[in-house]
Amino acid sequence: MKKILITGGKGFFSKRLTEFYKDQYEFIVTDKEELDIVDNEKVEEFFTQYRPDYVIHAAAIAVTDFCNKRPDIAQKINVDGAVNVARAAKRVSAKLVFLSSEQVFNGNENAGPFSEEDVAVPNTVYGANKLEAEALLKDIIDELWIVRFTWMFGLPERNNNMVNNILWDTLTSILKNEKIYASPHEFRGMTYVYDMIENFEKVFSLPFGTYHLGSINNMSRYEMVKHIFSSLGIEERINELVVEDTEKYSDNPRDIRLVTDKAKSYGIEFPDSGEAMRRCVEEYKIRLKQESGLLV
Ligand SMILES: NC(=O)c1ccc[n+]([C@@H]2O[C@H](COP(=O)([O-])OP(=O)(O)OC[C@H]3O[C@@H](n4cnc5c(N)ncnc54)[C@H](OP(=O)(O)O)[C@@H]3O)[C@@H](O)[C@H]2O)c1
Repeated sequence: MKKILITGGKGFFSKRLTEFYKDQYEFIVTDKEELDIVDNEKVEEFFTQYRPDYVIHAAAIAVTDFCNKRPDIAQKINVDGAVNVARAAKRVSAKLVFLSSEQVFNGNENAGPFSEEDVAVPNTVYGANKLEAEALLKDIIDELWIVRFTWMFGLPERNNNMVNNILWDTLTSILKNEKIYASPHEFRGMTYVYDMIENFEKVFSLPFGTYHLGSINNMSRYEMVKHIFSSLGIEERINELVVEDTEKYSDNPRDIRLVTDKAKSYGIEFPDSGEAMRRCVEEYKIRLKQESGLLV
């Protein structure tokens, strides 16, 4: 059984991943409490003790606003921490998967979708951190997969972490009867977290390198919000709650979608974001009753 050490293992993605594969792999699940990746001595000690075959480096501060406000902390965790993990992985001959992000393309003047060959120009601290870490890690360890994820979505589960995502944010606005402003000029890949998880073990069979992973999405953010309403069975509330924010990104449309053909050529395939959204809503059996606003 492969021994996999995961950092940031209590996060939105990682906790669900380790639960999903718990019978196939031996996981050493760590988060801040067990292994603060900033503490290099501890990282070295931990890797020497457990000698994993594989490492999934998922730990990060992934909240863009926080990283912009506290670039010092973001750099320590997102860059220095990643370097600590990569050096320790190399020392014990473990193969490393580094989770990166579509956000490396945030500042590109040209519109996406972007392939692995395109030059990335981040314009947030978080995006810049991820790109810097990618470059540093490549110099440290050859047995490295860099996987850039699109934006993931999912719903709360008992004892599982949640992060901002389009489905949960839309759902909470609906429950609070709040208006949702969504731009028709914003385009991102949106991936159901379980589609990412189900595909994830295929990463270990890929040649080392950089890969874009996630669903392709031809809908703007505005269209996706409306699609969520339809998937929830409440199309009739779209006019009341969804506002087409035509101003946002009107001068410079935001398109940070990823081309995922490279991963696809190795058999890693995703449904498009619309289909994935319907599947997620269906799996959680969520229908909203119009008259009461309650979940049934
Ligand atoms: N969610 C997405 O849509 C998305 C998209 C692209 C890429 N990614 C990347 O995928 C990875 C997982 O994302 P996620 O959404 O699951 O994020 P998440 O829920 O925030 O998970 C990250 C985990 O890392 C932990 N962590 C923070 N600082 C740490 C430290 N110093 N040492 C050890 N652990 C630390 C966090 O703990 P605290 O919560 O206590 O801080 C959290 O449990 C991240 O690298 C993220 O950048 C995510």
